[in-house]
Amino acid sequence: MFKDSFKYYKARKPPPNLEHVIDPMKPSNKNVRKMNVDFQSETGLGVKFGLKSMKEWNIYEFINIPGLILLQNPFTAKGQQEWIIKCLKEYTEKPNITNIDAHGLLSNNETWWDTCFGTMPRKDLLSRLRWTTLGYHHNWDTKHYSENLKSKMPNDLKDLIEYLARILGFQEFKAEAAIINYYKMNSTLAGHTDHSEAYLEAPLFSISFGQAAIFLIGGLKQENSAHALFLRSGDVLVMSGNSRLKYHGVPKILIDESKPWSSMPNSSINNEDWQKVNAYISDSRINVNVRQVLKPGQLNL
Ligand code: SIN
Repeated sequence: MFKDSFKYYKARKPPPNLEHVIDPMKPSNKNVRKMNVDFQSETGLGVKFGLKSMKEWNIYEFINIPGLILLQNPFTAKGQQEWIIKCLKEYTEKPNITNIDAHGLLSNNETWWDTCFGTMPRKDLLSRLRWTTLGYHHNWDTKHYSENLKSKMPNDLKDLIEYLARILGFQEFKAEAAIINYYKMNSTLAGHTDHSEAYLEAPLFSISFGQAAIFLIGGLKQENSAHALFLRSGDVLVMSGNSRLKYHGVPKILIDESKPWSSMPNSSINNEDWQKVNAYISDSRINVNVRQVLKPGQLNL
């Protein structure tokens, strides 16, 4: 059952044996198969999104989890740094909504970033950031999206996801809503399905940054057994087709000593911001989860 696997991987004492966690980085892995996509479609736009050349990309499908696709870290280290800074500095600003706003922990014109990293830093708020919603804002109570709770999706995030979607064959995908999840080393995300969107046929795009995670994916019911896989910084996981409505969750965050985001500070990165963000990410993980909400041709909810 999903919850048994979740409990197993979440445990600290004794810590779980990770031998059965699917790791596409292991060349001998029999659980995944490389997917071929048409790299002729490389347009040069990738550089703008902080992506490596497509020749370096590895895309996998999971033999026993139809519809689940992993694009293994297509980002350069500088690209990851830029996206991590955006997730913490830009996307936590209004009109996006964070749990910190929802709980009234800031006064009207304060931002989470300035409060945590300004002249009188409130360190207590640093680890309390849990989520930001963008575009159609996910309503955590009703679990419904509505036209009354909607703001503009940031162009850069929308363009990145739609660019990746086209390459992976999802020509019509529209990035209309996002949830950014922020994890500390002891955080978990309980098993759930994502079914609030009006159009459940569209895939869900999920990008990981920072420390690694064990991601658990089961079946359509909690009773089904689950597979565990490693997600590392830069990885793009796509839940499409049969996998779109499956139970999934994150039972464990793991330190990634290889730090795929780390490189010498680059002249085009604001070094002062990067120092702050680098310290934050040393014990944190960020997940950017992007969905299409409307059916094709549907203009509003
Ligand atoms: C989610 O399922 O909402 C997030 C998954 C992740 O953090 O990888």
